[in-house]
Amino acid sequence: DAAQKGGYEHYMRKEIHEQPTALRQTLGSRVDVNAGTASLDVDFPTGYLESLEEIQLLAMGTSYYAGQYAATLFESLAGVRATPVMASEYSYTGGRDPWRTLSVAVTQSGETADTLGALREAGAAGARTLGVTNTLGSSVTREADDALFIRAGPEIGVAATKTFASQVSTLALLAIAIGRERGDLSAAEAREHLEDLTGLPGAIQQVLDEEAQIRETAHEYADSDAFFFVGREYGHPVALEGALKLKEISYDHAEGFAAGELKHGPLALVTEETPVLAVLTEGSRPQETLNNVAEVQARGAPTIGVTSDDVAASSLTETFDVPDAGIFEPLVANVYFQLFAYHVANAKGRSIDKPRNLAKSVTVE
Ligand code: G6P
Repeated sequence: DAAQKGGYEHYMRKEIHEQPTALRQTLGSRVDVNAGTASLDVDFPTGYLESLEEIQLLAMGTSYYAGQYAATLFESLAGVRATPVMASEYSYTGGRDPWRTLSVAVTQSGETADTLGALREAGAAGARTLGVTNTLGSSVTREADDALFIRAGPEIGVAATKTFASQVSTLALLAIAIGRERGDLSAAEAREHLEDLTGLPGAIQQVLDEEAQIRETAHEYADSDAFFFVGREYGHPVALEGALKLKEISYDHAEGFAAGELKHGPLALVTEETPVLAVLTEGSRPQETLNNVAEVQARGAPTIGVTSDDVAASSLTETFDVPDAGIFEPLVANVYFQLFAYHVANAKGRSIDKPRNLAKSVTVE
């Protein structure tokens, strides 16, 4: 076991640190930046992508937040209406126009019962189905019309880490490929996004090199009453994922919100004992979010912001920088949130790789 952890105390920290390598595998041979193309090993029938009207992303847990990030990518890069659906709720909502819908099951394990159930239902209603997974030979690869592998390598820690970045990146390649095929994305725009994607391993490495600072901040705030995470646009799923990570492994009360939602309720809970962690990078509407952050600051909450260069966030209690990565900066910010969760939980001596009551793969509905 110790040998498999490669010198790390926990699989989770090892897997957080594996993200640059995992992403190189995810992107590897699939990207040609100069040509502005992303090639995935999925062959859709001729004319299928042109007639596509909706993409549904069916998933649970961390994979659901990856699906939410991807839904915005599909809408803005590929011009296709895209909706993340909590797979356990699918029966009560989905399948508006199944003939022109691509239903994508996003599942690390490929075995989550709720996700497989939703996929089956979408397929039975006539949708084309695609499984996006980390696991060769898993149930989703047998049940979906097509499978797309995120190539992150094995993930042992119950709390998903490196697979989130690889899921979003794989789906980003799909959004770029669809956008190019349908003519919604110019070659120049595609090149820019592909360049940002291929820069992710280096950008994430720079964040990992700042671990000592985020560890210190995590220790400073570890005993807070509760933790709130906020963001907009691509920063919104990352805020939700940041809160999920923290609650899963530290057992502390943590919640993520769309930054604009704060004043519609959560603000009532804000005190000097509730740190607010904010995504303030490109792709997350930093100026608008800063206005919301000012509202919690006025109530005395400590504020921890993840920012990029051009964001003037000097009033925050703590700031952490991410390198330029365009609309993928929130994905880089997420690595700070993973490290924050890890160090809060570790300071409390929690069972990080196997949190109480949780399983890596939930095969019952
Ligand atoms: C469980 C795990 C989570 C994971 C979720 C979905 O709840 O503890 O980490 O995000 O299942 O798993 P999947 O394998 O479908 O991505």
